[in-house]
Amino acid sequence: MHIPDLLIIDRIKTGTVIAGLKYYVPILFNILKMKMSNSKNSSNKLNDKSDKQSTIDNFHLLYASNHKQTYDNTYWMGVSSMKCPLDLWIYQEILFKTRPDIIIETGTNEGGTSLYLANICDLMNNGEIITIDISSPKDKPEHKRVHYVHGDTTSEKTIEKIHQLIEKMDIKSDTKIMVILDDEHSEDHVFQEIEIYGKFVTPGNYLIVEDTAMGGHPVWPELEGGPMEAVERYMKNNHDFEIDNDQEKFLLTFNPKGYLKKIN
Ligand SMILES: C[S@@+](CC[C@H](N)C(=O)[O-])C[C@H]1O[C@@H](n2cnc3c(N)ncnc32)[C@H](O)[C@@H]1O
Repeated sequence: MHIPDLLIIDRIKTGTVIAGLKYYVPILFNILKMKMSNSKNSSNKLNDKSDKQSTIDNFHLLYASNHKQTYDNTYWMGVSSMKCPLDLWIYQEILFKTRPDIIIETGTNEGGTSLYLANICDLMNNGEIITIDISSPKDKPEHKRVHYVHGDTTSEKTIEKIHQLIEKMDIKSDTKIMVILDDEHSEDHVFQEIEIYGKFVTPGNYLIVEDTAMGGHPVWPELEGGPMEAVERYMKNNHDFEIDNDQEKFLLTFNPKGYLKKIN
């Protein structure tokens, strides 16, 4: 709950002192009452560590089991984006903070996320999107910042195409590159991608491994070995990234431990 400020000076200036007190005093009274009673009310209970995690997990499971209503039914400017909106907001914050010149996205699908990234780049007047998929849907959104690559993300031919596109993009020594991995979610494939695409990421920028929540963290326990296990395997022997847990601040994320920041 947001505890409002009394804003007494502004209230005097605008002649709304009585209205302000009517609003503020009962809230203050209730806060004091809650603090004084030692009973576990629901909001305290939700902040208890284990209760908090199980509440988040239960909501996540509910969200995933209703995927036709939730992530299969999420659109950016009318185009499907199979993301959690809370993560998309985190993307926006990361983009604003890091201002990447190039964003490589694996798994275009219908292109809603590519368009979202391009539109945020429009607002910052900087950034190009390279997006890769084995399938090539007909009605992909057209945008001058979005560059489509058709192919398997781990094939040499695809990597070569990405290098060629990057070379064409007026690269400077301080060009910043960010990567989002969101195509096939098996452990070995994602591990291979982290090794390949992690090299593109420039220090201070992010490698986002999507859907680390799969494989029972807490959703889709049927998948044995997925993006989370790939991240854990990679992090055991590599020290060029750190997991940035701050990006999980909205509690629900499809990418627990999946926001990797390049430090070297
Ligand atoms: C989960 S969807 C991607 C969702 C999309 N990133 C979004 O935010 O809306 C997975 C996509 O990965 C593609 N894909 C699966 N395996 C791939 C591979 N080895 N290389 C390239 N694309 C692949 C599929 O064709 C599919 O479009």
